[in-house]
Amino acid sequence: MPSSLFRCAARVLLLLPGAFATILFSQDKPAYLDPAVPVEKRIDDLLLRMTLEEKVAMVHASGEFRAGGVPRLGVPYLWTDDGPQGVREETALDSWDLAGRTDDYVTALPVGMCLAASWNPDLALACGKVIGEEACARGKNVMLGPGLNIMRTPLCGRTYDYYGEDPWLASRMTVGYVKGVQAEQTVACIKHFALNNQEKNRGTVNVEVDERALREIYLPAFEAGVKEGGALAVMGAYNKFRGQHCCHNEYLLNEILKKEWGFQGAVISDWGGTHDTREAALYGLDLQMGLHAPHDECFLGRPFREGLIKGEFPMSVLDDKVRRNLRMLFASGGMGGRSPGSMNTAAHLDVSRQIAAEGIVLLKNTSGLLPVDLTKFKSIAVIGENAVLKFAPGHNSAGVKAFREVTALDGILSRVGGAANVQYAQGFQHPVYTWGKKRDHAGVRTTDVSAVSPEEANALADRAVRAARESDLVIFIGGLTHQTFADDEGTDRRDLALPANQDNLIARLAEANPRLVVVLISGSPVSMPWLEKTSAVMQTWYGGSEAGSALASVLFGDVSPSGKLPCTYPKSFADEPAHQGGARTYPGENGTVHYDEGLFVGYRWFDAKNVEPLFPFGFGLSYTTFTYGNLKVNGDGTAAATVECEITNSGGREGAEVVEVYIQPKHSSVLRPAKELKGFAKIDLRPGETKKVSVPLNGRSFAFFAPEKMGWVAEAGDYGIQVGASSRDIRLEGSYTLVRSTTVE
Ligand code: BGC
Repeated sequence: MPSSLFRCAARVLLLLPGAFATILFSQDKPAYLDPAVPVEKRIDDLLLRMTLEEKVAMVHASGEFRAGGVPRLGVPYLWTDDGPQGVREETALDSWDLAGRTDDYVTALPVGMCLAASWNPDLALACGKVIGEEACARGKNVMLGPGLNIMRTPLCGRTYDYYGEDPWLASRMTVGYVKGVQAEQTVACIKHFALNNQEKNRGTVNVEVDERALREIYLPAFEAGVKEGGALAVMGAYNKFRGQHCCHNEYLLNEILKKEWGFQGAVISDWGGTHDTREAALYGLDLQMGLHAPHDECFLGRPFREGLIKGEFPMSVLDDKVRRNLRMLFASGGMGGRSPGSMNTAAHLDVSRQIAAEGIVLLKNTSGLLPVDLTKFKSIAVIGENAVLKFAPGHNSAGVKAFREVTALDGILSRVGGAANVQYAQGFQHPVYTWGKKRDHAGVRTTDVSAVSPEEANALADRAVRAARESDLVIFIGGLTHQTFADDEGTDRRDLALPANQDNLIARLAEANPRLVVVLISGSPVSMPWLEKTSAVMQTWYGGSEAGSALASVLFGDVSPSGKLPCTYPKSFADEPAHQGGARTYPGENGTVHYDEGLFVGYRWFDAKNVEPLFPFGFGLSYTTFTYGNLKVNGDGTAAATVECEITNSGGREGAEVVEVYIQPKHSSVLRPAKELKGFAKIDLRPGETKKVSVPLNGRSFAFFAPEKMGWVAEAGDYGIQVGASSRDIRLEGSYTLVRSTTVE
């Protein structure tokens, strides 16, 4: 204590005898309880005081979402919870049974694909903060999200939960989200590390992918989450990589995550993703989750303790795991001083609505049908089951119990008010799958599917066509659901088609009324055989609490759409890169899936093969138009360059544009994609307004991963700099020359 402070404290003591005892006590207080002591020292102190049993109890679950805790020392439990779209409903302490409480209603945030489609990292930050604040209010230390696996195939049931096909876009979303969560005394657990790119056989499948694709496509978002975002938790994936389960994969966890990236937080297993004590002990897992009582009878419980006693594992591995878990507890205010947080506030709903609105992608608007002019259309038929469904409950880990969810129909009704006559017809009904009684978290058991009979389906469709004929305007609201074999955890889709004969219905509606707007609520691309017959199509994802109001704000022109696709929509499933090699490349043969397409995922493939997509990566229309000009690439020949250009709103409405910067290596000593996204910016512009956009580049923007050096190399030479409104709509082209080859961090 500095002497002046000491003198001051002494004076206070003389004046306040009561305070004397407090200060004396605080001198006796163990260091681990003293907030003035640096966290690592507090952990050192705790480690010295804990018994072997207490330490081992810190590295596995003690409830469905609970871990740790040392009651003797007053160290509380560590509470985890799903997930990426909000704080999940309470379960019973030690099972998946729902607790049936009334204090666990929360704000539902839009899904990952919607956030990614906003191309707005500030919104990712805001989203993370909402989740962090609600996690504080719900007493959760660690939030199990965001999910950031790359979309290798659109069939992956969890595509909706992630950030699309591009590592740079996914990285920016991850960093924003993680920073937001962690700004609110909550730990973000980025998942699923790594290569959990399909749900089919997720618990067993072994992934074989070459080193460059691993580093350049599948890991960057995790790397950014750790290095830039500072994520304090990483969840291991269910699948295997190069023959070893990801939750205790020596190369991924010890070598890459902890050694190379310097990760200081904890590796948490996916629920039920741990398979071996020795590997879990030695290969980087810090917390085994997904087990039920007796909790000690798990890989990191009794067998681990016995191994430690026998000297099979050094005590240092246990101390390291405990330290990492304690870091999460301290960082989340678990040892005192945690903010009370807040839930279900107007501000949270506002963030949810902004993301939902900014994530909406306008795919087609040929006859200017949108925005809907309510002075022209006096009768509107809203058709489709998705208009009345609520999606926030999700399935499994991405669902929340939303205290409010505005359906599409409700959003439209309240926006239209008395301005037009709205009638609703269901049109079709999604099949409903029911789960087997026993829920196996690493696999899936579906037992039953119920669907309407063909006669009922026809009647639904006929009624909808009639409504379409009678109305001035038709808004069809269809898509997918979180049902099995749709946008669902644990299963993959079986094809790209819309379920429940929606394609046929859309075609009939288009014949009945040419003024047809198709709104797709889904989390992944679908095929659109009816596209030519319709004049307006919108992709809206699952938009959370304010989905319906956000949709209405875009449909009726209060907000101009500004979302862009975070993934390629193929014309034909046969064009998909992951599906070129039969079972070998998806879903796997003899237990192994080979990523033979390597680096060529998403638009990288479509560019390389010169295949025209249905809608390219980065595509999205607005109600206004933008012109691009004055491209400058500033730099002195090093990788620290800046791409500058000017964007003008050349249309008649306010709007926001996402400006995408792609780098195109002109010559390279290795095979490289024709171009790759390396920067973007989103700007708001009033009609006629021009703004300068500046996008920084760095070594990684030019680099590839060189496996023989196990490092990143930016080669000297010329690079094309392409600035565009989508990956297939390049508006400005320039170039840049790196004068020297360098290895890059
Ligand atoms: C999912 C994780 C989730 C965990 C806990 C797993 O099945 O893959 O994303 O966090 O369950 O619910």
